[in-house]
Amino acid sequence: MQILTGLEPLRSALAALKSGDNSDRPGLALVPTMGALHEGHLTLVREAKRRAAHVVVSIFVNPRQFAPHEDLATYPRRLEADGALLEAEGVDVLWAPTVQAMYPAGYATSLQVGGLDAVLCGAARPGHFDGVATVVAKLFNQVQPDVALFGEKDWQQLAIIRRMARDLDLTHPRADAILGVPTVREADGLAMSSRNQYLTAEERSQAPALNRAMRGAEALILAGEPVASVLAGLRAEVLASGFRQVDYADLRDAATLEELSAFDGRAARLLVAAHIGKARLIDNMAIGGRPDLLDVLG
Ligand code: PAF
Repeated sequence: MQILTGLEPLRSALAALKSGDNSDRPGLALVPTMGALHEGHLTLVREAKRRAAHVVVSIFVNPRQFAPHEDLATYPRRLEADGALLEAEGVDVLWAPTVQAMYPAGYATSLQVGGLDAVLCGAARPGHFDGVATVVAKLFNQVQPDVALFGEKDWQQLAIIRRMARDLDLTHPRADAILGVPTVREADGLAMSSRNQYLTAEERSQAPALNRAMRGAEALILAGEPVASVLAGLRAEVLASGFRQVDYADLRDAATLEELSAFDGRAARLLVAAHIGKARLIDNMAIGGRPDLLDVLG
């Protein structure tokens, strides 16, 4: 595996990989990450390997998606350990640009995906998705992948990136080659996240209550209980379990993220964000056992 930090070496390495390609599988898959890799990321890498001849993983803690009061300075950085994990998975290239390589002096451009970015995490973290869309567009341009894979845990992020690819007529990758991979969970249901490391032992034992409450809410929604009272109950249960703040607990159309006041059979997702200790945890699930396929995003 090559570990590259500058754009020119990346371009040469990718050209060499592509020139050696003689299979009819898509040539290149990209898995964008911010590092501190866990089993969720490695699942994306394995899926990428199934889908393409070559896999590039990017690790870049993107300053543009953190607000000044957020955890940019303390976000876990473990490039060496991450590199060893990726090497063992048979990744071809680890693209780990410096901040200077990604945003050289004078850098001035930002992307905004309107509408989808104003709700849920976008409402709680203004500007966050501009930073995400900007860096992902740059990563796509730098690597020019045929396929890109993202975790469904960040469902809103996935919807925004697909919208951006469609709106900008991207071809590498095309919007329909931006794939979501179902959330990987700990045995107790907690969605895997690099930010789980912020939890103390006590908070870690409380955190699975989030997904437990969501599964309970799903059952009530499917049983026909009014959505508003189910969501109020979900919030109360999460707060009673040790979480100190719930940013949102919403039922939304899986594709448009439009808020739903009733479950009417269309592809819907229950999405929650809540704070426990120093961590802000997010989780989401399809309602009614609808497949977690990104197909619903069109
Ligand atoms: O999901 C993440 O890790 C980040 O938001 C991403 C997509 C790598 C962009 O920085």
